[in-house]
Amino acid sequence: MSRMERDPHTGHMTTGHEWNGIKELNTHVPRPVFFFLGAAVLFAIGYWVMMPAIPLGDRYTKGLLGYDDRTALTEQLKQAAAARSVWTARMESEPAATVLADAQLMTSVRQAGRALFGDNCAACHGAEANGGPGFPDLRYRSSTLWGRDADALAETIRVGINAAHPETRVAMMPAFGRDEMLTDAQITDVIAYVKSLAAPAAGAASKAGARTCSPKTARHATARTGPAMLPRAHPT
Ligand code: HEC
Repeated sequence: MSRMERDPHTGHMTTGHEWNGIKELNTHVPRPVFFFLGAAVLFAIGYWVMMPAIPLGDRYTKGLLGYDDRTALTEQLKQAAAARSVWTARMESEPAATVLADAQLMTSVRQAGRALFGDNCAACHGAEANGGPGFPDLRYRSSTLWGRDADALAETIRVGINAAHPETRVAMMPAFGRDEMLTDAQITDVIAYVKSLAAPAAGAASKAGARTCSPKTARHATARTGPAMLPRAHPT
């Protein structure tokens, strides 16, 4: 079956393998292949000796160079913190007004602030701080509950709202229904009034409508009009 023969064109022997008349030449492996293979083996042995490499159960060979990724990372983090401290130290020590007035410093502050906002706040307040159902829009609100100057914002972020912090800000809307401060009929009346504030044109009609609406639709209506019930900059 397999017959080695000399190929008349190249002068090489064949391996004896044949596929539908195509025969395989038995040529030498090119020298560079052995060179690179040898170089790779030497490099690997050198690496095992010099660097941390071989696991030994609960330890590993440390290598002659004594290199350690953990130490290297700690060192890099230290250097990065030192580089950042040029401006972080100023942010911590100088009043907000001075920081705001320094255009160069503000470039770093804006970048860091945006990243911090993305990591810590965007999940609730939205990537562009535009809020969503249940979460306030931090951009264009003409009125905020707790104030929007730098100190007020800092305080809100420090103590939280309804948080575990002893000085937390408390959102103080009482449970009028559960605590029986208002009867169901009175709640219906007040819903109608509040709805008329949000949509003045529909005010007259909504009072009559609200009397007949079920608790389910009443909840729906307050959910929609809740955030808008106080006078604020309104297009109409
Ligand atoms: C888990 C969701 C959540 C995260 C995360 C969050 N917030 Fe809030 N934030 C809220 C809610 C809900 C309110 C409204 C609370 C209320 O109305 O009582 C609020 C209110 C605020 C207010 C007050 C608005 C006002 O009317 O005065 C500010 C300012 C604020 N957040 C900033 C931030 C910043 C900055 C971060 C990130 C450091 C952040 N929030 C992270 C949910 C969140």
